[in-house]
Amino acid sequence: MRLSVIGCGYVGLVTGACLAEAGHEVVCTDIDEERIAKLNAGGVPIYESHLDEILASARKAGRISYTSNAGDAIRAGDAIFICVGTPPKESGEADLSAIDHVARQIAAEARSPKLVIEKSTVPARTGLELSRALTAYSKNSNVKFRVASNPEFLREGTAVGDFFHPDRIVVGVEDPSAAAELREIYRPIIERSFRCPVHNGTCPPGHKAEFLVTTINSAELIKHASNSFLALKISYANVIADLCEKIGANVEEVTHAMGLDARIGGQFLKAGLGYGGFCFPKDVQAFIHLSASVGVDFDILKATERVNKQRIERFFDKIRQALWVVKGKRVAVLGLAFKANTDDIRFAPALEVVKRLLEEGAVIHATDPEAMTRTKALFPKVQYHEDPYEALRDADAALVCTEWDSFRKLDWDRAGKLMARKLVIDGRNLYTPQGMREMGFEYYSFGRE
Ligand code: UGA
Repeated sequence: MRLSVIGCGYVGLVTGACLAEAGHEVVCTDIDEERIAKLNAGGVPIYESHLDEILASARKAGRISYTSNAGDAIRAGDAIFICVGTPPKESGEADLSAIDHVARQIAAEARSPKLVIEKSTVPARTGLELSRALTAYSKNSNVKFRVASNPEFLREGTAVGDFFHPDRIVVGVEDPSAAAELREIYRPIIERSFRCPVHNGTCPPGHKAEFLVTTINSAELIKHASNSFLALKISYANVIADLCEKIGANVEEVTHAMGLDARIGGQFLKAGLGYGGFCFPKDVQAFIHLSASVGVDFDILKATERVNKQRIERFFDKIRQALWVVKGKRVAVLGLAFKANTDDIRFAPALEVVKRLLEEGAVIHATDPEAMTRTKALFPKVQYHEDPYEALRDADAALVCTEWDSFRKLDWDRAGKLMARKLVIDGRNLYTPQGMREMGFEYYSFGRE
């Protein structure tokens, strides 16, 4: 099928690339001309595993193209995926002005009927508003639009794998023809007839995606309800960690045993510095806001957010307890990205840690496998090192802020010899307290003695 993708951020680019890899003809557009120029030159503006290879193969096969002319992109596709940003306003409410802008463009530029699919994360009822807007903005043309919601469940870092191996594909529609069209778009994924970039061509047997057809309102709600529930799970684990510290238990023993109950599940129960990124913090806020706007008090989510914000304070309690005076101390910050396997630093807990350390007068030497370029622009006073051992040299403390595997594998014997003081404050529970103490480190983490 011929598809258009509006917005070449994480979601749009991964969606466009994967749909092209699955055999569709895709035209992508973005208002950022530099980004389009980079893509046209064969560059990849974000770090995402396997994205470069599928973009290159789709380009070679002539199935993906990029244009900064939104009208050309809109006219090229029978279905249009809207993948623009919906950032939070001051109040926590989602800012939908980019969606409104795109609706105007589609109405003005389309010359034939289109299925308009919202993939951006939006509050419930946005689809209905989008439908109304398209009708209003196209009142002088005969072009008909149908609207659908198709929320994404892609995790940064594993987005390509998630796209090809989804647990569920949710499509919210107003009429059966839209559902049929979306089923056709996703047929290669549902039938697993694509060449899998993650598994060298062929996926292992077993995994099957559920194709769920719902109303548009339900589809929108499914997205916010899922992300908020995962955030809630993390905050729950973090409170359990605080409790473990007070009463002398081990949070990993507790959450591991909890997770073995299939009704609970073991994922997203890792205690530490809390959740960050551009999805959970904003989606929790937007969901609280949406609920309040219809008179439902989503108190549990307010607590989820409160607990998450307190994680930084808990981390600083540990830092102050260990370092006593922070001013003038040299600290190695291991990890800047909001989680491992991404260069994304938006709402990263590590940045809040860096900001506070600078306010308190610490001397910071930071390292991150992917996120240093982005961080440098925000914190020019920090000294950055490609080599984590250089960041650790002469440090009074090492602070672990992101769960990169390369940090998990660090040679702490070597690091200990370089550091001024053998002190590790681990915000992601990467190491065992016993192992670190056996190597002669003072070691602090979350929810473990
Ligand atoms: C999240 C969801 O997992 C995706 O399903 C969703 O599509 C996406 O948001 C989105 O709405 O676009 P993502 O933001 O990439 O994906 O990151 P996650 O892997 O979910 O991690 C979020 C944060 O939670 C990270 O800061 C991570 O370090 C933290 N986390 C995660 C924990 O603190 N503990 C855990 O047990 C798991």
